[in-house]
Order: sequence, then structure tokens, then C-alpha cells
Amino acid sequence: MSELHGHHILLGVSGGIAAYKSPEIVRRLREAGAEVRVVMTAAARAFVQPLTFQAVSGRPVHHDLLDADAEAAMGHIELARWADHVLIAPASADLMARLAQGLADDLLTTLCLATDAPISLAPAMNRLMWANPATRENRETLLRRGFHLLGPGEGDQACGEVGAGRMWEPEALVAALAAPASRGPLRGRRVLITAGPTREAIDPVRYLSNRSTGRMGFAIAAAAAERGATVTMVAGPCESATPCGVERIDVESAAEMHAVVMARLADTDVFIAAAAVADYRAARQAPAKIKKADGGEGLTLELVPNPDILAEVAGAAEGRPYVVGFAAETERLAEYAEAKRRRKGADMIAANWVGRPGSGFESERNALEVFWDGGHASLADAPKAELASNLMDLIVERAYGQR
Ligand code: C5P
Repeated sequence: MSELHGHHILLGVSGGIAAYKSPEIVRRLREAGAEVRVVMTAAARAFVQPLTFQAVSGRPVHHDLLDADAEAAMGHIELARWADHVLIAPASADLMARLAQGLADDLLTTLCLATDAPISLAPAMNRLMWANPATRENRETLLRRGFHLLGPGEGDQACGEVGAGRMWEPEALVAALAAPASRGPLRGRRVLITAGPTREAIDPVRYLSNRSTGRMGFAIAAAAAERGATVTMVAGPCESATPCGVERIDVESAAEMHAVVMARLADTDVFIAAAAVADYRAARQAPAKIKKADGGEGLTLELVPNPDILAEVAGAAEGRPYVVGFAAETERLAEYAEAKRRRKGADMIAANWVGRPGSGFESERNALEVFWDGGHASLADAPKAELASNLMDLIVERAYGQR
């Protein structure tokens, strides 16, 4: 029987062109055995007729907060109580802003305040609206408050642009709602992951960094969330979309990453250091842009070491989590990786070959050799999502003795 059988799903539809796909979500949810009620914002009704949703859901559509008849039949409190899960698809930038503010100025925002059911948002908007700091801050606020994020994806947009902001397809949204994360082996566990590169400022316009895209760390965050963990990802500057349900804290430098990780350590059961942290930073950050010398002479930059976040977490005296590190090697992989694991005091280290075409940095695929005290496993070349899933199974097995 489907995971969604008998579930009450309240679909909120806000005003965006992606609303034309929302009736398909209703259809698929019902196929999966769920009961669906639809609440539309005023802007959503400019895109799709309520009658369409009434036809596919088999129920009247709700949209007025202050309609006496509607309130008598099924008002905001009843709707909020009825729902086992609220899915808002599409979630527009405006709706996310109103939710982040805690407004209750229409039926949908009001019932979101009044429900204790989980709320999942499927954002859909132009890529610049998604990247706008205002939207980003609203997203962080909502994640902190326990909202789940499903997407957005990347690709062609209705406005003719290409980038992050596309609503996930109905099929992916329904699959995410049906995912058995709530029964996963990491339910109740808190996983902290570092991902991406760091940027070490030299002056206000220049920095030292590396080619890490963060893809592996993001894939690991998704794999941990799929297994039911509460996942926080501390990410250096990277483009990848935040996996659904993952709290993301953006940082720039190794020092910032270090500070966030240390502040979260007491609330962490598993720490996975997937970031490519810069080993060095400029000893002094110039307050103004460094000028090119006229005489053609060189410039010497003094570098000092950054804190080794992995080693510090592994060496924590109290409440030490299960610690997983990464290693990138160009030769003698097994020997160097195991030596690094011991030196840093990690429980597990996942090593990959770099400098070989088609794997490692900037690649969609990778392979890993994984080492722990007294054991070793080879995870074969695969897309990063699959590899992350296999690695997560190994972590669950080693850390908790189960799959
Ligand atoms: O020493 P190396 O950089 O090769 O070690 C790689 C591992 O250590 C990775 O897991 C990386 O995330 C972590 N690391 C860290 N802090 C540093 C340097 C590396 O957490 N400053």
C-alpha cells in the first residue's frame, strides 16, 4: 500500500505560472491514495480556475478567509486540523515572505499558522528572485522554523531564463511526500555537514579558493535527510540547490565555517567534513584593494594556516560525534588516506583519486575508498547522488550498527 494511503494532504497554491502544474499534483496524490483539499491564494486564481482543482480533487476549493459560508463548512482551523501534511506548490517569493513574517492575511497563511502538521514548500520563481538576499533570508527563517523545502530545481524558466527556481515536477513532489524519511535509520539523529570550497579574502576584491563545487557534500546532505536525520549543512560559496528539508548555513571563509561548526557541535551526532577547506589564509587582509606596483616587481603574500575543523571536531573532549572526513589523493591512496584518518582522529575517511579525468572536483561522478579502524570498503564509480547514498549506508552501519 502507498505511503500516502489515507493521508490528508492540504495543497496550497500561490500565484505563479507553475500553478498550471498543480492540478497534476492533486491527481498524483489521489492516485497514491491521499485525500486532497486545495486552498488557493487570490493570485493563484489569476493563473488557474478553482473549478479545475475542484474537478481533480473532487472537493470544493477554499480561498476566502472571511467568507461566512465557507467558514461554516470548513474554516481555517478545521482545515488546519484536518491536514496531516501541508504542501504549498508553487510557493511564490511573496508567499514565502508572508510566511516568514508570520502574516495571516489570507486563508493559506492563516492556516499555516494554525496547523501543527508539517509544511513543505515547493518554491517556484525567476532565478534572480530566488537568489535575492530577501528571499534567501526568508528561506533560512522558514527552514529554521521547521518548514521543509522541496526544490527548487534548475533549468529553463517560464520567463525565458535558465537557472535555479523551477518548481519540482509533480512526480518528484509526490515522491518526496511519500518518502519514508520519518521511519529512516537516522530518525532523531542530527547530522552536521560541511560542503563546498572556502574563500579566503586577500583584499576587498580578491580571494584564494579552490575548484570544489560542493556537489558531493550536497548529495550527502540529501542522503542523510532521506534517512530521516535532521541535517544542517554549512556551505561555502556554491551554486547547488539546497536539498529538501536541509538547513543550510552559508559561510565564506574557513574561520566562519569553523565558528559555525563549533557552535553546533553540542547538537551533533554525526559530523561529515566534505568541504574543501582552504589550508591557508592571508596573514593580513588588506583594508583597501592592493595596488599593482609600477616598477614591475613581484608581490609576496604571507599565508597562515587555517584551523583544521575536522581534526578539532574529532579531538573534542566532550560529546564527540561520529566523525567522517574526506581525502583527495593523487598517489598511494590507501596508505595516505588511512594515515590521514589516524592523524586527524576521524572514525572514517572517504578517499578519492583526484587529477584523473572524469572524477573528483567539477565532475558528476566519483568513486570512493572508505577506511575505518580495522576495515575498508570500495564504493564503485557512480553518479554522486548514488555514491552519497552508499556512503551514508556505510556511515549508518559503522556508527549505529544498522542499515
Ligand atoms: O588535510 P586535508 O585538507 O587533506 O583533509 C581533508 C579533510 O579535512 C576533509 O574532510 C576536509 O573537509 C577536512 N578539513 C577541515 N578543515 C581544514 C582542512 C580540511 O575540516 N582546515
